[in-house]
Amino acid sequence: MAIRGKQVLLGVCGSIAAYKSAHLTRLLVKAGAEVQVVMTPDATNFIAPLTLATLSGKPVLVDYFDPASGEWNNHVHLALAADAVVVAPASANTLAKFAQGLCDNLLCAIYLSAKSPVFVAPAMDLDMWQHGATQANMARLKSFGNHIIPPNDGPLASGLSGTGRLAEPEQIVGALVVHFSDPKPLAGKRALVTAGPTHEAIDPVRYISNHSSGKMGYAIATELASLGADVVLVSGPTNLPVPDGTKIVPVTTAAEMLNACLTEFDKADITVMSAAVADFTSKSVADRKIKKGNEEHQFAIELVKTTDILAVLGERKSKRQILIGFALETDDGLASAKEKLRRKNLDFIVLNSMQDEGAGFAGDSNKITIIDRNHVAEEFDLKPKSEVAADICTRIISLISR
Ligand code: CTP
Repeated sequence: MAIRGKQVLLGVCGSIAAYKSAHLTRLLVKAGAEVQVVMTPDATNFIAPLTLATLSGKPVLVDYFDPASGEWNNHVHLALAADAVVVAPASANTLAKFAQGLCDNLLCAIYLSAKSPVFVAPAMDLDMWQHGATQANMARLKSFGNHIIPPNDGPLASGLSGTGRLAEPEQIVGALVVHFSDPKPLAGKRALVTAGPTHEAIDPVRYISNHSSGKMGYAIATELASLGADVVLVSGPTNLPVPDGTKIVPVTTAAEMLNACLTEFDKADITVMSAAVADFTSKSVADRKIKKGNEEHQFAIELVKTTDILAVLGERKSKRQILIGFALETDDGLASAKEKLRRKNLDFIVLNSMQDEGAGFAGDSNKITIIDRNHVAEEFDLKPKSEVAADICTRIISLISR
């Protein structure tokens, strides 16, 4: 395993999710890492240092100075000895201190002294996570080159439900494994990902579109980049930040998305067409705002079909290229998805559920079925979109290495 023998400094902050750091420590040790746990003083209210000391096989450090032994915990040495600093859970308070360079405890001093990659896995209540201050702090940490392991969506300790749950210990170990894998499984591969809706103008102020948020495509682009691929993300209009390590090509209409894909496709080894491209566009676009008038009670827009981008790419595809499509169905999903897979010459198709609660366009989770060229279908549980993206990429890696 890629993290065997690595020195991992695990920072644990004051958050209810600190209970998961016991499992995380166990998994890291099992994977062969040497784990040094450093807790903030608040974290010790949530989980006993003895638990983490026993699981890591090393004394847990909290303060600079141990009055009992007279020992000084040198933050610079601790930081420099680490191959990776992993802060999980990272509380809103500690993230804010990291972002500002504050240094009022041992963990903060280690963070400032670290030369190794730093991974932060935030955990907090959804409103704290969404607050502009937290988001600005996260953007600052990203700009420092820190790796963010985003929180999951689901029930929170407050009783509310939303984004803020600490990533599962398995995901955190997975992020480290990917980071230390050399070469990364998709190193040297080029990927083209499309995401989001398209906007088809009717007049200068109105357009036809759909409810796609782009979250699924962005999660796939993020995952492919973290696996080492060179990613071009052709994105319709969304409110999402550009994923780390990807080149973004913003487009608005289906026609623009087609052009961008045609420019990028021949260079791509992997293409994932997750955009919700409009199937129809207005035959003509009024150059002035259409007035509602006084008399008419009906108004019709003449629509024409857009080009099916995926079908065009399927025709152009060479043997070395992997092409993946999505299908969003309300009825008879499996049969339609299989038909699209064949008609568009895909390597596999991802069938999205519209029926399951929590799955679909706007949310942070999704429930998918992957259908391959032999029509073998694998159904996955409802999961956060980041984990769905990981499942899709696992399948891509297995096709690449066949
Ligand atoms: N797609 C595309 N270009 C279009 C429409 C769809 O490339 N103009 C792609 C989508 O990105 C997706 C796949 O085709 O990967 C399936 O999209 P979907 O809307 O489910 O199916 P359609 O093929 O459009 O068929 P239908 O509307 O009949 O369900």
